[in-house]
Parts: sequence; C-alpha cells; structure tokens
Amino acid sequence: MKFADYIKTQEAEGKEKHVPAIDVKECSSCNELIVTVQVGKEVMHPSTVEHHIKYIQLFGEKNDNKFVHISTMELGEENTLPRGKVNIKKGAFKNIIALSFCNIHGIWENNLEVKNG
Ligand SMILES: [Fe+2]
Repeated sequence: MKFADYIKTQEAEGKEKHVPAIDVKECSSCNELIVTVQVGKEVMHPSTVEHHIKYIQLFGEKNDNKFVHISTMELGEENTLPRGKVNIKKGAFKNIIALSFCNIHGIWENNLEVKNG
C-alpha cells in the first residue's frame, strides 16, 4: 500500500475522535489569520500513555497551487488536549490541510478552504 492509502478522512469509523478540526479567525491586532487545529472536537480523544495523539501537522496550498509545510506540533505523554495554534499571512493560502496521528488508530486528514477577502 502507498502512504496515501493509510490516511483516514471524514468517512472513516471513529472520525468524531480523530479528524483534526480546523478553524481560521482573523487577528485584528496583528492583521494575520490565526489557525487553530484540534483533534477530537466533537468527541474528546483520549490523552493517555497507551492511547494518544502523537502529532498534528499543518500544510497549506498557496494561491499558485504550491504546497508548503506550515507547522508540526509534536505532543508529549503529558499533553491533555491535542490542539495547537499558528498564525499565517492573510491571503497566503487558499486551502489548509491538517494531518493528525493517533498511536492506535493511525493517520487522519481534514482540510479547510480559506476565505480570502
Ligand atoms: Fe485514537
């Protein structure tokens, strides 16, 4: 199998706990966009040594279709909420893609179209 064959999405069983929810808000004081990503927004994902989210990655699709890495958030054993925030330039991306990795349930994907303007 190829790597892409292992990526689970909104259609997979257990999506409520694993799909990374992406939220984009304007930062009025910094004139940027604040991207918040959280795994398990509908149903909390466990955060135990035995079962936890190891990392969240954010990628962006630029207006010229270039695909770039934005951030990798590595989460340790004591992390209690798999959530992270990054700032991005307004108008820099048309699409944000998030990946999350659960040590038991594998890798999950979500994306959000960014409204520019
Ligand atoms: Fe899990």
